[in-house]
Amino acid sequence: MQSLIIVSNRLPITVKQTIEKSSGGMVSALEGLGDRFNIQWIGWAGGVVEDSERKEAIASELKERFNFIPIFLSQENVETYYNGFSNSSLWPLLHYMPSNARYEEKWFQNYRKVNRLFAEKILEHAGPDDIIWIHDYHLMLLPALLRDKRPDLTIGFFLHTPFPSYEIFRCHPKREELLNGLLGANLIGFHTFGYLRHFRSTVLRLLGIESELDHIPLENHKCAMDVYPIGINTKKFQDILGAEAFSRRRKALRKVYRDKKMVLSVERLDYTKGIPQRLEAIEMFLEETGRKDVVFLFISVPSRQSVPEYKELLEEVELKVSQINGKYSSLGEVPIHFLFRSVNFDELCGLYCLADVATVTPLIDGMNLVAKEYVFCQKEKAGALILSEFAGAAQELATAYVVNPYYVKQISDTLKKALDAGETEKRGRLEPMKKRVEKHDADFWAQSFIEALKSCCQEVSPPVNLSGLSPEIMNQIRSAGRGVLFLDYDGTLAEFEKTPQAAPPSGEVEQLLSSLSNQNQFDVYIVSERKKEEMDNWFSNFALNLLAEQGCCYKEKNADNWISIRPETDLSWKDHLRDFLKLYTGMTPGSLLEEKTTSLVWQYRNADPDFGAWKAHQLVSELQEMLSNLPVQIHHGKKSVTIASVQTSKGAAVSHIMALKNYEKALCAGDDEADESMFRLSDQRITGIKVGPGKETSADFQCPSPKALRSFLEQLLEQP
Ligand code: UDP
Ligand code: G6P
Repeated sequence: MQSLIIVSNRLPITVKQTIEKSSGGMVSALEGLGDRFNIQWIGWAGGVVEDSERKEAIASELKERFNFIPIFLSQENVETYYNGFSNSSLWPLLHYMPSNARYEEKWFQNYRKVNRLFAEKILEHAGPDDIIWIHDYHLMLLPALLRDKRPDLTIGFFLHTPFPSYEIFRCHPKREELLNGLLGANLIGFHTFGYLRHFRSTVLRLLGIESELDHIPLENHKCAMDVYPIGINTKKFQDILGAEAFSRRRKALRKVYRDKKMVLSVERLDYTKGIPQRLEAIEMFLEETGRKDVVFLFISVPSRQSVPEYKELLEEVELKVSQINGKYSSLGEVPIHFLFRSVNFDELCGLYCLADVATVTPLIDGMNLVAKEYVFCQKEKAGALILSEFAGAAQELATAYVVNPYYVKQISDTLKKALDAGETEKRGRLEPMKKRVEKHDADFWAQSFIEALKSCCQEVSPPVNLSGLSPEIMNQIRSAGRGVLFLDYDGTLAEFEKTPQAAPPSGEVEQLLSSLSNQNQFDVYIVSERKKEEMDNWFSNFALNLLAEQGCCYKEKNADNWISIRPETDLSWKDHLRDFLKLYTGMTPGSLLEEKTTSLVWQYRNADPDFGAWKAHQLVSELQEMLSNLPVQIHHGKKSVTIASVQTSKGAAVSHIMALKNYEKALCAGDDEADESMFRLSDQRITGIKVGPGKETSADFQCPSPKALRSFLEQLLEQP
């Protein structure tokens, strides 16, 4: 059996005087996976235990009985990491409620500390082939903390909440740290495609990292992403629904609600669950229909009562319930039965079976398992599910009575409709949902996630094809009588920066340029689209040849003057275009126009990434029409559109220099469209290396990042 380390803030049990089951959807879904996997579970067992003997006793009991490894939180950690950062800062933001979100610096410090504590515990217990599966928003820093210590680990992360749009997530003071933490995982799972889409766009906008649809290429690993809607533990429900004791319990409950229609709500008492709005809808329903034959039963499970917003919600809900009951009760008849406690499992299943209608109307919810559990428990008669369109579950349970939870009148009208619906209509709605819930259960969910996690770790890492380059080709290049390196600068030797001015050589790049200057195996050309003056400024300290402005001119090392490759180039088109490009600069905040000798470059690195890319496409298509008769070429490179004379290109410059100097072997490295002109040269002497992701390239080899290229070049310079 596959060994799996599940890591979540909460263990599925809470240690009090006795050991109790923890509440919440995550625990419900994960607790049944023990038949399929050999599980160790690391998490908090609730409460605060100070006494070290008691800690030991709990740890050994949990280990022995369940293979659980407890994390002990101090009172301060409970207040800052759990109540504070996790539940008062992250939870509201992840659920689109920035007005409930608060932040304190100390909370984050302790959130980081507790995440480290989890990392240490995992490293203590992780065997070489174990899979680590981290759950939920309490542990967002953990994937990167682990990756940092053990890059070889297989790390999955599943987010049980929504991932909100960038506009919301950006409100968080520690947004970048949180994202970087998550990116340590090999696979991140979400309940819906919407959450995944938001995550990708947030990573792009906050970290500037472009992603493919299903993964984010990173320097040392690939972080895959996919959608895995969580399901319920069908086996547990199946077992109880068939049990004798359960049918006695159901009969007893039926007596309690005889002659009544019962409308059921089950949830943790949480402000995301839309309880006040639902109560308003019930009030409207009672006012409009005057019905006395309907009982509304609320099972509100106490949750996070040390967080002020939850306490306030309890007061608000209790007040509203008593107002409604005060107004619409008659002797012996109370419309709302409000239980502020959890119920045991057979009671819960009994209520699911009996309820004529279940109202699941969260304002937002990652998934909502109650909806699925209710559907699964409909056996003899078909109940009606009223479901919020903002619950993740609504994506799968489309034949429910779907409502907008903010639209009180709609909920009230839907209550009437659902209560009066005939058996055929209800069956027709229920059956497709049941099939879906039965098939896509918690087992299916976990199995698909783990399979995907394993396979993305088995994949040969992204096209790091440089290994094919050495040693054979490396030796060929080394042993060529006259070998030359043509190396693009931005995005190739140096990491691509936000502004063109922000990338002068420093650190590792500077070191490499020095090594390149101080060797005489190869001639070296730095090939850039940058202007001559800029290249002079940045590279004059190195003994390197420079090729500027897209191959328009070059300057030999130690020489004083630049030499034009095509002095007779026709540049009259620049005057037609300049004003037109300025229009685009005006329309696209953050963009700028660079003028070079034989080209105009519209840069949008600092613009909004989507808007910039959109405007760039528009610009390219307009230019293609405008310029069809002019001697220019257009390339849409990395965050830039270049319009350059057809007579100049990096490729043409490389050809020119190769012929002039009669080199026997050349290595060209570059990262974007302008560099492809070097790779496209049909010259046996040239070997091309594309740096960075992207499938479309004419280069012979590809390497993942400037860092990887730098280390390859350092190797090349070493004597074999
Ligand atoms: N639940 C429970 N005890 C109760 C009522 C509910 O354990 O008294 C369970 C319920 O069966 C469901 C979970 O709590 O599996 C709630 O999960 P859901 O996804 O609906 O919401 P979450 O609590 O995760 O926000
Ligand atoms: C939601 C969260 C879970 C959490 C559960 C109960 O389902 O996604 O991670 O365990 O609520 O909340 P609690 O704060 O009691 O753990």
